Amino acid sequence: MRSHYCGDLRKEHIGEDITLCGWVHRRRDHGGVIFLDVRDREGLAQVVFDPDREESFALADSCRNEFVVEIKGTVRNRPEGTVNPEMPTGEIEVLGKELVILNKAETPPFQLDEHQNVGEEVRLRHRYIDLRRPEMQEKMRFRSKVTNAIRNYLDDNGFLDIETPILNRATPEGARDYLVPSRVHEGQFFALPQSPQLFKQLLMVSGFDRYYQIAKCFRDEDLRADRQPEFTQIDIETSFMDEEGIMALTENMIRKLFLEMKDVDLGDFPRMPYSEAMQRYGSDKPDLRYPMELVDVADLMAEIEFKVFAGPANDPKSRVTALKVPGGAQLTRKNIDDYTKFVSIYGAKGLAWIKVNEIENGVNGLQSPIIKFLGDDVTMAIMERLGAENGDIVFFGADKAKIVSEALGALRIKVGEDLNMAQCEWAPLWVVDFPMFEETDAGLTALHHPFTAPSCTADELKANPLEALSRAYDMVLNGCELGGGSVRIHDQEMQAKVLEILGISDEEAEDKFGFLLNALQFGAPPHGGLAFGLDRLIMLMTGTESIREVIAFPKTQSASCMMTEAPGEVSAAQLRELNIKLRKTP
Ligand code: AMO
Ligand code: AMP
Repeated sequence: MRSHYCGDLRKEHIGEDITLCGWVHRRRDHGGVIFLDVRDREGLAQVVFDPDREESFALADSCRNEFVVEIKGTVRNRPEGTVNPEMPTGEIEVLGKELVILNKAETPPFQLDEHQNVGEEVRLRHRYIDLRRPEMQEKMRFRSKVTNAIRNYLDDNGFLDIETPILNRATPEGARDYLVPSRVHEGQFFALPQSPQLFKQLLMVSGFDRYYQIAKCFRDEDLRADRQPEFTQIDIETSFMDEEGIMALTENMIRKLFLEMKDVDLGDFPRMPYSEAMQRYGSDKPDLRYPMELVDVADLMAEIEFKVFAGPANDPKSRVTALKVPGGAQLTRKNIDDYTKFVSIYGAKGLAWIKVNEIENGVNGLQSPIIKFLGDDVTMAIMERLGAENGDIVFFGADKAKIVSEALGALRIKVGEDLNMAQCEWAPLWVVDFPMFEETDAGLTALHHPFTAPSCTADELKANPLEALSRAYDMVLNGCELGGGSVRIHDQEMQAKVLEILGISDEEAEDKFGFLLNALQFGAPPHGGLAFGLDRLIMLMTGTESIREVIAFPKTQSASCMMTEAPGEVSAAQLRELNIKLRKTP
């Protein structure tokens, strides 16, 4: 139907007869002439209808926002004084000659350029309209270009795109599974994949050597701004490649992507061991745009009377740490109270602070509610360790190590944002040398997943599981975990040992992933890989705050779809067919 996209019209088309197809973005009646701004995915064009073409004029007059129209007309210069430099098509307009209303539209629940006036709920309920907004169109287009560039890169590097099943047995990746009841097998359930992890390993056993897939993954977990129950991974697996090879290949992919799509050179990604990241930044995904670091001061506090600090200072599972914020002395009481509330989200019971006004006057130049508890000597020793200068504020956290790291790690980023302390726009890094296991209330769990290879022997692993490091790596960008992976265990005995340490019995292992253990006995090559979160990557590249803004049809924070109202109830007949009887909810 169309000859040109609205948004593509330029001066060089002047004099051409054209046909546009699109939506009426706005209709304006300028005393005698009707202007229609017509929109399609490439942008807007202004079409003018004169009253001397009676029929099309009347039709144009009857158009309302979001009507679908086909317009024949001639491109011409805009009259002097009406050129709009803000619009890519602002130098020209179209003299409308024929107009066909292809479809009418009800008054939309919100005008596209007034979407901020309605809640996200309204936008999500009418997502097909929300997606008409140029900003959303641009995000989807960007996403398409990124996946295309990634496919090209992986294809150029010999990777095969192979699909893996969605109806599966549960893969133990740590989150809760989405289950699908089987009709044919009474009382049995499929699990939707949390990732294609086991299948991609099996593809390596099959000799495909290099696999990738842009794969949908499903995890029934608590949602946050950067998490969705259904999300997309760029999933990669290789054989006969060690961590150096895999990291080089994937780092290069991301570097190339940023160059191509954003003209940004990320440079070489630095590497940081997990323990250092936790120590210096309180996080396994440190945001290196901000220069501030956590400095431990437990040794200086061990002898003081003040229990809040002395207690954790003498407990090996606790941490007492300080965060020096340059320029932070300007923070008000209200700011500090807000930060205290902020750290309480992470379980911190308080947020002690010292403002540095005139360090040359010793403790008299400091301002703080806690100096009286710390004593002058300890206070000054802390100031010296931190290299405190006038204008700084120092925050303190004292509690179990996990709480302190999370609370002050998050505070570091929050304050960094609030005080505009970012020193660069992009800060990528690899976090490496993760522990194999972590201790939880439920016993030992795998930090990455149970198929990750340790960097020690099976005997060393058994002797000291909590000390063992894994051959896992995470790619972090601006404090966001973009992707993670590992070299896998390809030896059946090692795999059995890891499962044993995790407290998974032989029967359970056989039941859950006996097929993998079997496969490892039939010539499994050394292999490893990684998966990127595509949605997070797009979020970062487009500077978007919420993951929902880069997914065409996202789920809400409560894991439902406003538009289709999924999940929904099913008929009694369907339940009967599945042999499912619902427990009465109270
Ligand atoms: P992992 O669980 O670390 O590893 O996931 C890989 C990447 O996927 C993204 N991601 C998510 N994105 C949006 N919403 C979610 N709920 C969500 N969960 C994870 C993150 C994360 O870095 N099979 C392994 C990979 C491997 O070892 O090769 C895996 O799934 O960006
Ligand atoms: P309190 O004696 O409980 O009023 O605490 C004195 C100061 O220490 C206040 O500024 C509290 O915010 C702070 N504080 C209390 N508990 C902790 C903690 N676990 N970590 C850091 N600061 C704390």
